[in-house]
Amino acid sequence: MPIIAPSLLSANFLQLESDCKMLNESKADWFHLDVMDGRFVPNISFGPMIVEFIRKTTTKFCDVHLMIEEPEKYAEQFKNAGADNLTVHLEACKHLHRNIQQIKSLGMKAGVAINPHTSVSLLENIIQDIDLVCIMSVNPGFGGQKFILNTIEKIKQLRKMCNEKGLHTHIEADGGVTLENARSIIEAGADVLVAGNTVFKAANPIDVIAKLKEI
Ligand code: DX5
Ligand code: ZN
Repeated sequence: MPIIAPSLLSANFLQLESDCKMLNESKADWFHLDVMDGRFVPNISFGPMIVEFIRKTTTKFCDVHLMIEEPEKYAEQFKNAGADNLTVHLEACKHLHRNIQQIKSLGMKAGVAINPHTSVSLLENIIQDIDLVCIMSVNPGFGGQKFILNTIEKIKQLRKMCNEKGLHTHIEADGGVTLENARSIIEAGADVLVAGNTVFKAANPIDVIAKLKEI
């Protein structure tokens, strides 16, 4: 069964607490928290303060996706805010290996995200050091975009790479995941599904989460 990680980016921030409560009562496994700085991506979302508030509402795993430049400057703040996993973008890190070591030394799981144009082969020399790869299936910055089909091929390539190395790295698909395409994403080899709009814009989010979980 896939890990379901609803993205709070699509939540109603005027009622964040009740949206978190809803996720707690649902079959969601993780909370996916999208941090944007207006530099790495053309949008600004929220930072460690909001992550800390969300953390207080849940015991579920908090998967923090940093879409920011210079993530090393903020890793400790996100640890203190309660992040369980910290994912940084390959495209934002000149010293990716060092950044991963920093995240792990702070006691968090470490993830690397890659943009739609970035080749999976660039992970060849870091994959053994990380817990998760976040394959962006949209250009990062906004919820509610259309799934980029080439992602399926990238997930297959990455699963093959992990299998050949005997690794059980999480492969997370992020962006444009729907009830319609979730099966093909999982069949390609992903085991974590991030879903923002599909969950939060649904008439019955709890039901949609359960359906994603059953796939
Ligand atoms: C995009 C974010 C995603 C996004 C997912 O930059 O990383 O997590 O919010 O939202 P949907 O599922 O609506 O594409
Ligand atoms: Zn994300």
